Amino acid sequence: MSDSEDDGPPQLSSHALAALQEFYAEQRLRTEPGADEKYNIGIIEENWQLSQFWYCQETALRLAQEAMRAAGDGGRIACVSAPSVFQKLRELQGEGASACIFEYDKRFAIYGDQFVFYDYNKPLDLPDSITAHSFDIVVADPPYLSEECLQKTSETIRFLTRAKVLLCTGAVMEEEAARLLGVRMCKFIPQHTRNLANEFRCYVNYDSGLD
Ligand SMILES: C[S@@+](CC[C@H](N)C(=O)[O-])C[C@H]1O[C@@H](n2cnc3c(N)ncnc32)[C@H](O)[C@@H]1O
Repeated sequence: MSDSEDDGPPQLSSHALAALQEFYAEQRLRTEPGADEKYNIGIIEENWQLSQFWYCQETALRLAQEAMRAAGDGGRIACVSAPSVFQKLRELQGEGASACIFEYDKRFAIYGDQFVFYDYNKPLDLPDSITAHSFDIVVADPPYLSEECLQKTSETIRFLTRAKVLLCTGAVMEEEAARLLGVRMCKFIPQHTRNLANEFRCYVNYDSGLD
């Protein structure tokens, strides 16, 4: 912007204008009919400060079904930083779902005993009620695409799982994920409610239905 009076009315830079247009477009999307269903999971709206990007309904359903299949009848499922999979499991299995949600966002404490507060920076700082290798499968979607975040989240995953892991993260994390968790990339490509800048993929360490 210029503040000289001779230059006429103040002008926004092209960057500032683009950012403003994006902001207003986003506001319109959020207030248009159906926006609640599109961008919220249950009653919980995405909070970008917490790196929250929800799966679309079809992806949440596919991952929940895969977790149930892999866990087997009565098997326990841990959803680590993957709340929409947890919510889908509750839809499919009812309130008594044998699943837990490990989350930093305390809004998910509405799920009572099934909610476990979790900060990936303290990977093994979990309540005593959560014992080692007590879940048949762990579904995880770490909040950041960094080696450090994947490394710490992997520590939690290895502690929780009996064996099976279903990890969702960026395609760029493929090598690191293989090294830390022994997982390989699936053909199935998870989709989100909005387009992400990074290519996202699923990884498993067992014969899954996602290929
Ligand atoms: C990329 S999103 C994954 C959500 C997934 N796509 C879904 O729809 O369920 C990352 C998740 O990590 C959670 N998160 C943010 N900060 C965290 C932290 N410090 N420790 C653990 N989880 C965190 C967010 O609340 C969010 O649910």
